[in-house]
Amino acid sequence: MTVHFIGAGPGAADLLTLRGRDLIAACPVCLYAGSLVPQAVLAHCPEGAKIVNTASMDLDQIIAAIQRAHEAGKDVARLHSGDLSVWSAMGEQMRRLRALKIPVSVTPGVPSFAAAAAALGAELTLPGLAQSVVLTRTPGRASSMPEGETLTAFAATGATLAIHLSIQNLPRVVADLTPAYGADCPVAIVFRASWPDEKIIRGTLADIASRVPEDVTRTALILVGRALAGEGFDESCLYSTDYDRRYRPQSAESPWAGWQEDTGNG
Ligand SMILES: C[S@@+](CC[C@H](N)C(=O)[O-])C[C@H]1O[C@@H](n2cnc3c(N)ncnc32)[C@H](O)[C@@H]1O
Repeated sequence: MTVHFIGAGPGAADLLTLRGRDLIAACPVCLYAGSLVPQAVLAHCPEGAKIVNTASMDLDQIIAAIQRAHEAGKDVARLHSGDLSVWSAMGEQMRRLRALKIPVSVTPGVPSFAAAAAALGAELTLPGLAQSVVLTRTPGRASSMPEGETLTAFAATGATLAIHLSIQNLPRVVADLTPAYGADCPVAIVFRASWPDEKIIRGTLADIASRVPEDVTRTALILVGRALAGEGFDESCLYSTDYDRRYRPQSAESPWAGWQEDTGNG
């Protein structure tokens, strides 16, 4: 018996890995975080599966449900939204399951920041503008931030910021970022990326707060950085005509020339 943690993706039912889909289809028990995991993903559960929404359960109750499945020898699909590596609460469940010697596996999912970037048609790392993406959040009712992980500290890097769980703190986000990024820095807010009611709000640090519709109060990602303008950046070396590389040697003297002939790659 194994508990399969599966990233259920940002919302659209077809933004699920094939491995995730097949594991869901093979598990007689499915526990899903109902606040964000789309119902359509549950359609992959086998007929007769026990399907439990854990949105109203505490950690003890979730682990008890898994233990019951374990004792019955039934595999469990444990679904969380997006990917499991960020803000999934997988860590605390995993710690308990390891202590109980219950086997686990992890299948990644499409994270919401990637779905938001796709909705914007944006590359978040544009040469000369930003080469790092910071996935972060602001403090919430239930979560404080470790000392040092402040927006002002991240702003000092000039990286593209993907700020989660923070739409309700937008005025504070704007105030913290404006000194480093400038009031004209582009901002995009993507509400429910990949869901049918997805909304995109674009603006700058100066005006974004006044552009957000009243109903955008949760499940939104705030993206900030110069890369969001999609202009004023350099071309990468990757496709440059004079850049000598393994897949495109520029001359017979290139250290890569023989490699390409030998392997037939390219
Ligand atoms: C508990 S976290 C889950 C993050 C998730 N594990 C991931 O990989 O993105 C929830 C936050 O992620 C962001 N989020 C999740 N799904 C989203 C979506 N479809 N569109 C925009 N933001 C989303 C929002 O900032 C939301 O407040």
